[in-house]
Parts: sequence; C-alpha cells; structure tokens
Amino acid sequence: MALMSSTYLDELRAQGRLSRQQWLSILVEAQNSPAFAEKIRSCAHAIRERYFGRTVFIRGLIELSNYCRNDCYYCGIRKSNGEISRYRLTPEQILDCCRLGHELGFRTFVLQGGEDAWFNDGRLAALVATIRERYPDTAITLSMGERSRASYERLFAAGADRYLLRHETVNPQLYASLHPEQQRLATRLDCLRNLQAIGFQAGAGFMVGAPGQTLAHIAEDLVFLGDFRPAMVGIGPFIPQHATRYAQEPAGSVSLTLILLSLLRIMLPNVLLPATTALGTMDPQGHVKGMRAGANVVMPNLSPADVRDKYLLYDNKLASGSEAAEGLEILRQSLAEAGYEIVVARGDQPPMQN
Ligand code: 5AD
Repeated sequence: MALMSSTYLDELRAQGRLSRQQWLSILVEAQNSPAFAEKIRSCAHAIRERYFGRTVFIRGLIELSNYCRNDCYYCGIRKSNGEISRYRLTPEQILDCCRLGHELGFRTFVLQGGEDAWFNDGRLAALVATIRERYPDTAITLSMGERSRASYERLFAAGADRYLLRHETVNPQLYASLHPEQQRLATRLDCLRNLQAIGFQAGAGFMVGAPGQTLAHIAEDLVFLGDFRPAMVGIGPFIPQHATRYAQEPAGSVSLTLILLSLLRIMLPNVLLPATTALGTMDPQGHVKGMRAGANVVMPNLSPADVRDKYLLYDNKLASGSEAAEGLEILRQSLAEAGYEIVVARGDQPPMQN
C-alpha cells in the first residue's frame, strides 16, 4: 500500500491527475503515515518554490453584503438564519476600502458577498468598471455566487479578472444533503464552466470535513479539480456555526487540510492557492503552515471594521490580527520569520513549466 501510494504520487506529478481509487489510497496513506504526509508536503513545497519562490500574494477581501437568497445548511449567513444582523456596503464604502487597500499595497481586490439581489448586473458592473478605471494595476476578483452566463459576461466586460465559486462537492448525494432542493449541483457546475469559457480565472473548492463528507467524497472532488483545472482553489476546514443544524458537528481537520493543499499544489503546479481564513481560525499558525504545505496566497479582510463581525459564515471567524488588512504588518512579520515574503503585485498565475 505504502509503495503503491508513492508510485501514485509520481504519476500525479507526471500526469496532473489520478483516478478516484488512486486518490483514495493516497489520502488514506497520508492520514496514516506521517512520513508519507511529509513526503507529499516537501514535494509540494519544492513545486511552490519553483513557481513562486518564497513569495506570498495578498488579496484584499471586501465583504459587500451578508444578505443571501440561498440557504446552505452549513452557512451562518444563509437566508433563514434570523439571528444575524444583515448589512450591505454602499458603493462609496466599497470604494473607500479599495483606496485604503491600494495604499496598503493590495493589488487584488476580492468583492465577496451573499447572493444579494441588490447587487444586480447594472450595479455590480458599474462598481467593477469604477474600480477598473481607478486602479488599472489591480486585479478584480468577484465572489458573488451563481449568476447567469450573460451576467458573468457583463462583469467580465466591465473589467473583472477572476471569479471564485466553490463547487462544495461534486457528489450529488452529499451536495443534496448540504443544500436545499432548489440549489442544484448541476447549476453550480454550469456556472463554473461558463466562467472559465468567458475567460475568467475561475476558482473552485470545498470545505474539508463538511458534515457527511468522507475521504471517498474528497477523492471525487480531486478528480473533478484535475479535469476542470481551475486557476484558483479555495479549501478550508468546515467550522460549525451555532445557529445552523450542524452546530454540534465536529470541525474539519487542519492536518487533512494541509495534506490537501499539498496534493493540490502537486496536481496543479501553478494554481493560486490560499491559506484560508477558516484555516487561520482553526490554527494560529495556519498561514505559515499553509505556505509550508504549498499555498501561496493570503486574503486579509479589508471590510470596514464595524461590519466584520456580521459576515459570520462560522463561529469565531477571525477578522483581526493577521487576518485584517490593518494587521498586514503582523502578517508580513510572521511570514517573514518563516522565510516568506509578501509582494505588492496582482499575483496572476505564472505559466506552466515543463
Ligand atoms: N465553515 C467553513 N466554511 C464555510 N463556508 C460556508 N460556511 C462555512 C462553515 N461553516 C464556506 C463555503 C462557501 C464559502 C463562502 O465559505 O465553502 O463556499
């Protein structure tokens, strides 16, 4: 088994994909053997260094709105959570965040929000166009959920470069257990294909340790990501939120998240791979451990301080210290101590090497 998994690792490096069975063997072995997990990590880190050196790309995350028409059972801002107070930033507030962010050295802004009808195509495209005009040296990433193909086309034409939309899981049963009936896996996957076809750098991803998720499910997600070849992948541990049906579920594992970051780096050598807020929330060393596992992106929070405690996807979500834009120095320092360097750059995907 151990030998076989090692062979699969070589195959992964050479082919950039594996079968579901091969993934499952690797995952089982990596979880059982610290030596194998370390082999995966060091292989991933060598690839990280080849493509990105010791650099870290930062993204200024602006959480536009916590209104959401969806009802994902795991998520704290889902529509039927009556316990949270809802907010929506004005375009002026959003542009203020961009100004501050640009001064701080951010050259990517991520506009993220619940699926809030206020941000219709006209408003969102106008906002994107304004940011594009004011900050021509800056990449614009949107993370605003499922929209029509025409909508994505309009946002791309307005100047957006990247789009994050986690697929959550490609297993239809698991998807159905985590979402209400109106939310369809097929729609999610169509959106991702549309984004990629339009020319967005598209990002997919999933929660590690989502309720009901097994290693076999994760193996399916890895097969999907190997086929889809996203420019970005967002993964982080599931963290229970007290006002959801999953309040009592255990959180996802940090060590499995790190193993998956490494495997993703090996499979998609030039992928833009963040050490996510959820990872930072679960482990104070999350960012550095993420970088050591092969991640190369951190996304500090640029939202106005008074709304940060409202964008609560899960309990105890970090939005201060090294997770906050004004804590950039803390982050810079802790990454520097580990040998990594934050750069002022858009941080696009480098081309694949042979
Ligand atoms: N724990 C961790 N991640 C979560 N997300 C939503 N709820 C949680 C949670 N409880 C993630 C989902 C979603 C992204 C916006 O945040 O994967 O796509």
